[in-house]
Amino acid sequence: MKNTETAPAEEKMGIFSNCRTGKFYYDVSCGLNASPKYLSSMYFYDAVGDKLFQDLMNCEEYYPTNCELEIFSEKTAEICNAIIGEGDAFDLIELGAGDATKSTYLLKYLLENNADFSYLPIDISSNVISYLNITLPVTLPGLQITGLNGEYFDMLTKASAISNKRKVVMFLGSNVGNMPVDEAAQFCADVRSHLSPGDMLLIGVDLKKNPATVLAAYNDKEGITRRFNLNLLERINRELNADFNIDKFEHYPTYDPETGACKSYLVSLIEQDVNINGMETIHFEKDEYIFMEISQKFTVQQINDMATKASFKPVDHFFDSKHWFTDAIWVAE
Ligand code: AVI
Repeated sequence: MKNTETAPAEEKMGIFSNCRTGKFYYDVSCGLNASPKYLSSMYFYDAVGDKLFQDLMNCEEYYPTNCELEIFSEKTAEICNAIIGEGDAFDLIELGAGDATKSTYLLKYLLENNADFSYLPIDISSNVISYLNITLPVTLPGLQITGLNGEYFDMLTKASAISNKRKVVMFLGSNVGNMPVDEAAQFCADVRSHLSPGDMLLIGVDLKKNPATVLAAYNDKEGITRRFNLNLLERINRELNADFNIDKFEHYPTYDPETGACKSYLVSLIEQDVNINGMETIHFEKDEYIFMEISQKFTVQQINDMATKASFKPVDHFFDSKHWFTDAIWVAE
């Protein structure tokens, strides 16, 4: 049986008066009409997804957050001294700042050591930016902060328009791993194109390690990752009036130690049809899967190569004690 399409997705997205929901519908419709089916992991993060991700970061098996926190708390001085360099003024720009827990270690040290800098957190969530603009100057007196709400590259352009100081960009949490390898390389090149020679990128990357450790992090015993993935189907139900029966989909994580690709899928347990807003029907064969997310793991050599290809010079690595994660410093050439 074929999926029924009454009109191209571009036309149908207009049915949702809210432009953001229209774009969401467009992306969902494109992904579920593709073969093989896919959904974009950037849509994991609604209010429920944010909460599940918080729970995930606290669960026993999900190691990346703790590893990077260890690096930022134990190697604060080394990282800051690398960033400060010759001591000229700089803007510390964070892509996807969230609650800035990790960066707060650096901000505190930089303030205590009278570094000449401003903090420019960038986030797609206006709530995050308002929260940081209000709370950080209280917890960190003397901090100069200008929160920027919007897409990364639009806001990097804006950052250049408001200041011509040296730039130190932070992209933490191994978010670079949530892009396919080619896209990640392009992303790094795009960041570079917004920088000048001598500017820096501090990038957090999850490393290849024992495959069982990686797989367990994406298949936790409590089932938080499972709920995190299934929540995207529930979000489609909530926001796009769809009728996914989430009991009829199973979370299937995989890790390939050769390529370092950790991938998550949702597998249809039965042959079934899913309706979206009375406008289209998506057919699933039994055992058909939806590709949900990639969390790519890298070797140090691959990270250095990625830097060089994007016209950066890889100058430093800060590892956690288990060598499971690195925060690398790249200098724009
Ligand atoms: C946000 N990102 C780096 C997480 C990761 O590890 O890929 C998202 C995640 N997906 C499942 N668990 C965590």
